[in-house]
Amino acid sequence: MLFPFFAAALLFSTWGALAAPTQPHSQLSRRSGIALPPGYSHIIFQDDFSLLPPGSQPSPSKWIIATGTSYPNGPANWGTNEIQTYTKALSNINITSSGTLLITPLRVSGSGSGSGNVLDSSSSTSSSSSSAAAAAAAAPDNGKDNWTSARIETVADHIACPPGGKLLMSASLKFGSAPSPSQMGIWPSFWALGSEFRRSGKFDQWPAAGEIDIAESTNGSPDVWRLCTAGPPPAGRATSFLG
Ligand SMILES: *[C@@H]1O[C@H](CO)[C@@H](O)[C@H](O)[C@H]1NC(C)=O
Ligand SMILES: *[C@@H]1O[C@H](CO)[C@@H](O)[C@H](O)[C@H]1NC(C)=O
Repeated sequence: MLFPFFAAALLFSTWGALAAPTQPHSQLSRRSGIALPPGYSHIIFQDDFSLLPPGSQPSPSKWIIATGTSYPNGPANWGTNEIQTYTKALSNINITSSGTLLITPLRVSGSGSGSGNVLDSSSSTSSSSSSAAAAAAAAPDNGKDNWTSARIETVADHIACPPGGKLLMSASLKFGSAPSPSQMGIWPSFWALGSEFRRSGKFDQWPAAGEIDIAESTNGSPDVWRLCTAGPPPAGRATSFLG
């Protein structure tokens, strides 16, 4: 039987994925000063970006910066009808002088040349990702403006929970603090997708590949959503929590 939730690539993670048992990777945990919580024996993956120079970008050895509007052969607009284009531009994704990851959605005027004037920059989110899925709500969609943002996912996949063990995925995200009307379309989130989603090239296999949404917030709402999905619709949406 396949447990896709436990073979996951993390998306938009700032650091996370601690698991038990087996050998400790103490050198890794010392490097960034992240302590193992009680009950966990080693770190599978972590990154807090604190060691990177300001103005740089997440290490390609750890992170894939997704670009465009879909996975290869995947559903358009990342399957969520989001209107943004993901880029690797420093203006969309860079490391701050505080050693955090800054992802900034930007609305650019014009017809999508990418060289128009920036009209609006959201309240930036630190150590998180953002989306402009409902950006049309922020301003009437004139059919010309173009939203860009950034999306990263771990290079590591098959981050798995050992049989009988436990897996902790954790991230620290700063959500926007601007009033909700100024955050329409902003969708910071942290989640894991089943590795099969990436490996098989079957990007249309959602939600069968499995997905754990650990934190999602839209439109500046104080609500944080957590969801698990697996299997074909309509059973795909297994559980959801509003926290
Ligand atoms: C990082 O992104 C922010 C927001 O777009 C921008 O103001 C800043 O200039 C960027 N840093 C670099 C080095 O490009
Ligand atoms: C939006 O801008 C990006 C980055 O310049 C570009 O790749 C994309 O094609 C543009 N999208 C549209 C719909 O014009």
